[in-house]
Amino acid sequence: MLFSGTRLGARIVDVAVADGRITAIEAEGTLTGDGEVVEGGWLTPPMAEPHVHLDAALLGARRPNRSGTLREGIANWAVLREGLTEADVRDRALDTAERYATRGTLRIRTHVDTGSLLAVEALVGLKATMAARGVELQVVAFPQEGILRAPGRREQWETACRMGVDAIGAIPHFERTTDEGWRSVRLAFDLAEELDLPLDLHCDETDDPQSRNLEVVCAESIDRGWQGRVVCGHCTSLHSTNHPHAEKVMELVAEAGVQVVTNPLDNAVLQGRYDRYPKRRGLTRVDELWRFGAKVGIGHDSVQDPWYRLGTAHMLDPAYMLVHMSQLTGEHQMARVLDTLWGDNHLPWGSAPSLEVGGPARMLWWPSADPAQLLIERPLPRVLRGGVPFE
Ligand code: FE2
Repeated sequence: MLFSGTRLGARIVDVAVADGRITAIEAEGTLTGDGEVVEGGWLTPPMAEPHVHLDAALLGARRPNRSGTLREGIANWAVLREGLTEADVRDRALDTAERYATRGTLRIRTHVDTGSLLAVEALVGLKATMAARGVELQVVAFPQEGILRAPGRREQWETACRMGVDAIGAIPHFERTTDEGWRSVRLAFDLAEELDLPLDLHCDETDDPQSRNLEVVCAESIDRGWQGRVVCGHCTSLHSTNHPHAEKVMELVAEAGVQVVTNPLDNAVLQGRYDRYPKRRGLTRVDELWRFGAKVGIGHDSVQDPWYRLGTAHMLDPAYMLVHMSQLTGEHQMARVLDTLWGDNHLPWGSAPSLEVGGPARMLWWPSADPAQLLIERPLPRVLRGGVPFE
């Protein structure tokens, strides 16, 4: 197979592929082949999904969220969770992963609610199955209803964290008090140190400008030498807080090597719900985080689940929403948003896979090399899985 006159990084080249590997990368117009020839377009690494909830995926229709709010989503999930079976969790997770893979995403980090140890076991047990199909799955033990809010939750969360998960979660802004939120952060770090696991927290997913857990996470990351091992999802209070405080926090985020994952689809509709008009946009400060040198990721969060029914498992959709909601429609900004999908979105796995001669042909071919055109059309890429079939 030959890609001819195709964009790869900043160059236009010819790329030859055989037996699931890249066999040559040469200047445009120099390679010939007797197999299939694909002209033009753009070759990129596969995309990565840093934040989704596979345990809840595809459940939205089962108990419709009539108000469309976060509160009703949480309430509906609490009911649905009671009816879960391992087979149900597994089937929906595999179905959703297949949707991701056919849309170009071959790494998925899922949160799983530690309120259902059955779901934790099901998703941890799927890692090998998915790997055989070319999808790298990571599982985060996520206490949806907090660690300290009610008796028994901390024990469930601790149990889940010892069940073979890849990262430890928490939800400090959802705990009862500011102090208990900060305590939950420190408990998560204690357990992360004991188990030598990275952290991935739902952090400050609220419009409350006084929700101030992100700086505590950063301080703990620095003090405990956990830089580069912590992800914070949502961080929407940063949108609403005052600028002097936001600047202090964003500087800390960069210093702590904490990656902020924004989830534009969910937060576009779940935030600002207590506002009349004007209604806040409710996404974290992506452009300003970049200005401070902080790492940002873009997550899908929900694929047709109780919180957001419209998720497609196509990462170009949250990217499309992000450039609108965060006003990132400058040409270089749109390019950076797309680069994040196959660049910094891979940070939870270390780094993005590089495309080089001799390496696996795990990559995507897009019909256009123009970022704006990809956002306009949001096409399906052609997905090469390095020779691994997805069945
Ligand atoms: Fe989430």
